[in-house]
Amino acid sequence: SLVPVILCGGSGTRLWPLSREHYPKQFLALGQEGRSMLQDTATRLDGVSGAIARAAPIVVCNAEHRFLAAQQLQEAGVQDSRIVLEPVGRNTAPALTLAALVAEPHAVMLAMPADHVFTRPGELQRAVERAWPLAVEGAMVTFGITPSRPETGYGYIEKAAPVANGAAFAIASFAEKPDAGRAQDYLASGQYLWNSGLFMVRADQWLKAMQALQAPMLRACRAAMAQSREDMDFIRPGAQDFGACPADSIDYAVMEHLPAQPALGVPACVVPLDAGWSDLGAWDALWDVMPRDANGNATRGQTLAVDTRGSLLLSETSLIATVGVDNLVVVETADAILVADRRKTQDVKKIVAELKAQR
Ligand code: GDD
Ligand code: MG
Repeated sequence: SLVPVILCGGSGTRLWPLSREHYPKQFLALGQEGRSMLQDTATRLDGVSGAIARAAPIVVCNAEHRFLAAQQLQEAGVQDSRIVLEPVGRNTAPALTLAALVAEPHAVMLAMPADHVFTRPGELQRAVERAWPLAVEGAMVTFGITPSRPETGYGYIEKAAPVANGAAFAIASFAEKPDAGRAQDYLASGQYLWNSGLFMVRADQWLKAMQALQAPMLRACRAAMAQSREDMDFIRPGAQDFGACPADSIDYAVMEHLPAQPALGVPACVVPLDAGWSDLGAWDALWDVMPRDANGNATRGQTLAVDTRGSLLLSETSLIATVGVDNLVVVETADAILVADRRKTQDVKKIVAELKAQR
């Protein structure tokens, strides 16, 4: 069966001041019709063909967010989900490994970041259907987006020969977050796709790859699960063992190595994806996916934009009024106001780092 594994442990510092340590972005109502991104993610596969049996999702998040996660899943009508609570964050490779140890060995996991937006979810569902037979046979399937700029915040997948009658491509190499020069080369070559951050792999195949590539990480996760306690829908891995687990992402820990190791028996491939995908990493990405007026302004709450262009104005408690400005981001909350250049919103994480340092 197909098991959505929702990775929901990030802190989303670039969406400050809406996103906070105790209330990170995946739980904010930034999704469709006032739903949170977690809720959108949990229901995103609802249109996948009935020929593919679906199991209830496994959600992996920080223990601190257990009630937020459980309540939002319940509100979204998601039944029987299992929520794995990390005592500390160890990045995505250990998170997916915990899920693989909870899932049935032959279940096909679809790892889904909880903070992505798809304007055409039907296209994602078709891509998942194309990927399904490959994953059932034991492949690690990624989903690739045609790149449009030399973005350095993503992984790059180098395509090799087509497989499965052109439904996918083998992967020649995988490069996570290249520097600007390499990103430019990859874009120019036309051979690379962006990694969307979705991964489809059988639980036993993932564990096999981890055994070969990251044995200490797998050992720590197994030890943590051997000590795990369950209460209600929550699964709590042992804190001491999980705390001792090395931290790394799926991309660095596994994907960068897999294409060069065919003997492992976990072939890596990529299914092209054109589903209006964006990683809602920073405010400019939210501006990008929101409806905008004739002057290119995206607004929410009480706002008045006079002689203002290309701006994002989000108000929670009071009126935001602007005049004679372009390309601004203004986010107002009860206890903090952000004013930023829309083209520099990646740097909002510097504010959060500074606030942490002062604390
Ligand atoms: N449970 C859990 N635990 N989830 C985590 C953890 C953790 O320790 N760390 C991150 N996550 C979740 C985040 O909440 C997010 O939904 C997802 O895992 C991906 O983590 P990011 O930190 O956002 O990764 P990234 O954006 O830098 O890079 C990944 O995504 C890109 C596309 O958006 C990579 O897969 C790139 O290759 C890819 O291009
Ligand atoms: Mg991300």
